[in-house]
Amino acid sequence: MLKGKCVVLGVTGSIAAYKIASLASALVKLGADVNVIMTKNATNFINPITFETLTSNKCLVDTFDRNFQFNVEHVALAKRADIFMVAPASANVIGKMAHGIADDMLTTTILAAKCKKLVSPAMNTNMFENQIVQDNLETLRKYGFEIIDPANGYLACGDTGAGKMPEPEVLLQYIIRELAHNHDMVGKKVLVTAGPTEEAIDPVRYITNHSTGKMGYAIAKAAMERGADVTLVSGPVAIEPPMFVNVVPVRSAAEMAEVVKNAAGECDIIIKSAAVADYRPINVATEKIKKKDGEASCIELERTEDILAYLGAHRKEGQFICGFSMETENMLENSSAKLKKKNVDMIVANNLRTSGAGFGTDTNVVTLITADGAKELPIMTKEEVAHAIFDEIVGR
Ligand SMILES: Cc1cc2nc3c(=O)[nH]c(=O)nc-3n(C[C@H](O)[C@H](O)[C@H](O)COP(=O)(O)O)c2cc1C
Repeated sequence: MLKGKCVVLGVTGSIAAYKIASLASALVKLGADVNVIMTKNATNFINPITFETLTSNKCLVDTFDRNFQFNVEHVALAKRADIFMVAPASANVIGKMAHGIADDMLTTTILAAKCKKLVSPAMNTNMFENQIVQDNLETLRKYGFEIIDPANGYLACGDTGAGKMPEPEVLLQYIIRELAHNHDMVGKKVLVTAGPTEEAIDPVRYITNHSTGKMGYAIAKAAMERGADVTLVSGPVAIEPPMFVNVVPVRSAAEMAEVVKNAAGECDIIIKSAAVADYRPINVATEKIKKKDGEASCIELERTEDILAYLGAHRKEGQFICGFSMETENMLENSSAKLKKKNVDMIVANNLRTSGAGFGTDTNVVTLITADGAKELPIMTKEEVAHAIFDEIVGR
């Protein structure tokens, strides 16, 4: 995923420094060329050998070390870097970077780097809240650095509050967002619906379906990774939402429809992948019906609103609308008919009878149906399917 990408990690003198070993390792596993620069003080917290072993690259500490592949290593590495992340960033290094001080290998190299720069502050809450540190962070923002908000929590010093470096998996997502995909959807607003809906029968029971939200969440993540501004309207699911996506949780079809209708006018691309329950209870008989083998409630149902048809009928100029279709038979005929009837641009059809497709699985087997015809895709992960959908949309 990160093959051919040069990632520079700057590590400073914070107790959180040891966590960067996991980040370096995860980046190497994704194929990145990882180069770690440490401040001298950081070497009190973790040994450079750890990074050298994990990355197979020399860990740089001393600007005047002559044992380098290049003559002027800080400039050479700064030129090669696709991204530079300082994590954990001490108050000291934040201050130096904000004021152009370059008195060690890390601060010298970052001054020479023109790539995207990310800074993850990590320190005691009082230090973090100190106006001097806050002003320095603001200065860095002004110079184009992206500051990663520290997490709140129990800090190594025993205090609880803001200042904790986010976990390595979170930092990894920042790097993946920058480097893993072409940013061919920058400036696009994308609305995705995902998951099932729940239609309450009474305070205890509801009507729903087997959707897990995996496909819709993968679509939202793919759009975000390609640079789009993504809103994900999600029914109740048990999976973690992707980072950098605006998630709007809903329960019922009516709630989902309301959110979608309010947001749709602003959006360039709308992907309706939610498995909205087809019916909702409108009247539950209070008197139980006596049956031979016990009692049963009588529930009157009505159809929920067809959100896709609404979107097709109210499309704005240039908007791209895509829906999903789950069929057990006559998949192509039914899905093509849906495309026309609902006035949408693409139907992603999957045949529930195919193994590896549909609800709950990590893979899917889909056919992309547009006015130009049908494109059958092989079995793919849901992430790959999501990117294939956007390849098709962006390539038009
Ligand atoms: C045990 C210990 C933990 C520290 N943790 C942090 C920290 O999380 N953040 C910070 O800004 N400074 C922390 N410091 C203080 C820095 O290490 C100190 O300011 C140092 O000069 C920073 O050097 P550097 O910025 O060149 O790496 C810590 C110091 C010690 C002894």
